[in-house]
Amino acid sequence: AGSRRMYHPKVIDHYTNPRNVGSFDKKLQDVGTGLVGAPACGDVMKLQIQVDDKTGVIKNVKFKTFGCGSAIASSSYMTELVRGMTLEDAAKIKNTEIARELSLPPVKLHCSMLAEDAIKAAIKDYRSKRKATVLK
Ligand code: FES
Ligand code: FES
Repeated sequence: AGSRRMYHPKVIDHYTNPRNVGSFDKKLQDVGTGLVGAPACGDVMKLQIQVDDKTGVIKNVKFKTFGCGSAIASSSYMTELVRGMTLEDAAKIKNTEIARELSLPPVKLHCSMLAEDAIKAAIKDYRSKRKATVLK
């Protein structure tokens, strides 16, 4: 094998054919938006979830990532993973799970961290919006 680290085919697949790219109107009441940055490199990820208010299940997901291939692949994979999940389960996803699935090398661990931070931020945003409506 050569000395250059090759990317895993799954990373290349998600990078060249990212799933669920786009955005929702963040003012929508059933949408939670997570916007996070990686201090290590300055890359930015926006992940949005659309939630079924009655069941707490994530019914739709979109992302936009301005970053490296591993960050794009991590966010693309995350959108596939959380669709159909409850908020509780989605909040438990660890970046190490994503890194393992995509076989990211250690130097690219922070790229998958971005995806964990983004889904947590999106869930928090959705919950605080909901609390605000309930209190109205
Ligand atoms: Fe180059 Fe993040 S530092 S893509
Ligand atoms: Fe910074 Fe990948 S290099 S997110």
